[in-house]
Amino acid sequence: MARILITSAIPYINGIKHLGNLVGSQLPADLFARYMRARGHEVMFICATDEHGTPAELAAAKAGQPVADYCAEMHGVQAEIARGFRLSFDHFGRSSSPRNHVLTQHFAGRLADNGLIREVTEQMIYSVDDGRFLPDRYVEGTCPNCGYESARGDQCDNCTKQLDPTDLISPRSTISGSTKLELRETKHLYLMQRNLRDKLEAWIDSKHDWPLLTTSIAKKWLNDGDGLQDRGITRDLHWGIPVRRGDQPWPGMEGKVFYVWFDAPIEYIAATAEWADANGLDDAAWQRWWRTDMGADDVTYYQFMGKDNVPFHTLSFPATILGSGEPWKLVDYLKSFNYLNYDGGQFSTSRGRGVFMDQALSILPPDYWRWWLLSHAPESSDAEFTWENFQGSVNKDLADVLGNLVSRVTKFATAKFGGEVPAGGSFGPMETALIADLGARIREYETLMQAMEVRKAAAELRAIWVIGNEYLQAAAPWTVVKTDPEQAQAMVRLALNLIRVYAILSQPFIPDASATMMAAMGSDDWTWPDDLPAAMRQLEPGQAFAVPENLFRKITDEERADWQSRFAGVRT
Ligand code: MF3
Ligand code: ZN
Repeated sequence: MARILITSAIPYINGIKHLGNLVGSQLPADLFARYMRARGHEVMFICATDEHGTPAELAAAKAGQPVADYCAEMHGVQAEIARGFRLSFDHFGRSSSPRNHVLTQHFAGRLADNGLIREVTEQMIYSVDDGRFLPDRYVEGTCPNCGYESARGDQCDNCTKQLDPTDLISPRSTISGSTKLELRETKHLYLMQRNLRDKLEAWIDSKHDWPLLTTSIAKKWLNDGDGLQDRGITRDLHWGIPVRRGDQPWPGMEGKVFYVWFDAPIEYIAATAEWADANGLDDAAWQRWWRTDMGADDVTYYQFMGKDNVPFHTLSFPATILGSGEPWKLVDYLKSFNYLNYDGGQFSTSRGRGVFMDQALSILPPDYWRWWLLSHAPESSDAEFTWENFQGSVNKDLADVLGNLVSRVTKFATAKFGGEVPAGGSFGPMETALIADLGARIREYETLMQAMEVRKAAAELRAIWVIGNEYLQAAAPWTVVKTDPEQAQAMVRLALNLIRVYAILSQPFIPDASATMMAAMGSDDWTWPDDLPAAMRQLEPGQAFAVPENLFRKITDEERADWQSRFAGVRT
C-alpha cells in the first residue's frame, strides 16, 4: 500500500466554475484519487478555494457584500457543487484560513532569513478616486502601438503587445472609470527566484517521466530571456494575508498583503492542516503528508492543473519550497491539461459563455458530465464541447453499451430464473475466453490509469464494456435457454458477475451508476479484481439481485436543441 497525495489547482472564489475549469483540474484529480483508493492505497486528496486578490474584492463589491462574507458564502456554494459532481476531496479548504495565514507568513520569513527576499521601491499607478493602487489590468487606455481604445495595462487585446500601464494614452481606472490617476511610490517584497535557478533546473531535469506539456512550459520559462524574473510577492490591497516575517511584523510593509499567487499554492499544505483540525487530529497527522522529516518521504505527490498554471507550479511554488530550506515535500508528478472549448469558441467566465457547473447539474446527473468530460479530456491538444458530441457519447457509451447490458441481463435473469443468481452449469470455452480477454484489458486499463492517461483509460473502459456486450450477443443465453437451460444459467451467472466487476472498474468515472449497479447485485464488496477468475465467481448461486432503475437515459434531439439554444448566449 502506497501513500498518495493529490492536489487539484484551487479554483478562484469569484463565481461558479465552468466545465472547462472542471475538466482541467478537479475532475481528473478526482478520477485519480478514486482509482488510487480503489486499489487500496492511502490517499489524501486536497482542494480549496483561492480567495484573495483584486478579482475577489471586486466581485464582493459588485455583490454589495463585505469581501469576507462574500468568500464564505461562495465557498459554501462551490463546496455544494463539488459534492454534486461527487468530487471526493478529503478536504476542501479556504486560502483565507488562519492556517494559511500562519504558513504563508512562515514561508516568507524563512525566505527572508535565507537572503532570498529583497525590497524594491517602485512607482505604481494610484487612483485618487478609488483610494487605491491599481493592478496593471485594472488600468485601461489607448494602445500606443495600434490605437485600440480599450487596451489593458498589461497587454493590448487587439495587437497583443505587452504593455506597461504607464505606456497607455489617456489611462483610466476600470473600477470607477476615473482618470484621476497618478504615479506614487510604494515598496514591495521580491522573491529572488534567479538565485534558485540552478536548483530549479536540476530538479526539473530530474523529472524524466513528466509529460511533455509540463516540462516544455517549465523549460521555456526557465530559459527565455526574461524567464524566471525575481517576482513581487506583495501587493497594496486590503484583502489578503498581511505581510509579516513569520510571527514578527515586517517594518515598512504595514497595510500590505501577500500576492494571491504567493499564498495560493501554500494553501495545499494549509488545507491539509485544516483537514487535521476538522478531524480533531494533531499536527503530526498532516505533517506526515508534507514533511519529509515527519514521514512524507514515502509519499508520492501528484498535482493536477490547466496549462496556464504550470509556470507557478514548476517554478514559483518550488522556489518557495526550496528557498525555505526546510524539508517540505515537492511535487513528484505534475499532470497538466490543455483547454476545453465550447461550441466553436472559448468558455469564458468573464463573458459568461459556456455551461457552468451548477447549470450542468440542473439538467443532467453528474455521471453524464463526468463521462463526457473525462473521455474527452484535453490532453494532447485542446478539445471542444459540442452538444451533438455530448448527446452521441451519452447515448452510445452510457445508454447503449453499459446501460443496455445491465438492463438486458438483469431483466432476462429475473424473468427466467427469479431474482437470484442461478446455480446451473459451469463456465465453458466462451466464458473462459471472455475472462482471459477481460483480464488483459483490465491490466491495460490499470496501466493507463496509473499513467493518468485519462482519455485512453476511458476508451479502454468503454472497450471493456463492449466485450461484455459482444459476449452476450455471441452466447445468446435467451436462445440457449430453450435447448440447454443449465448452460444458460452459467451464462447469466457470469453476466451478473460481470456487472459487479464493471461497477468496480467504472467507479472512478461514474460513481453513482457504479453504486447503483453494485447495490443491484446485492453486494458491497468493492475489492479490485486482481484475481479476475475469482472475481467472476464472487456472486454465488442463490444470491439475490435486482433490476436497477434507469441506469442511464438517452438525450433526445429536442433536449439537445433546447439546451443548445439555452446555453448559446451569455450567462446573466
Ligand atoms: N486559482 C488559480 C486558477 O484558477 C489556480 C491556483 S492553483 C494554486 O487558475 F497554485 F494556487 F494553488
Ligand atoms: Zn494595440
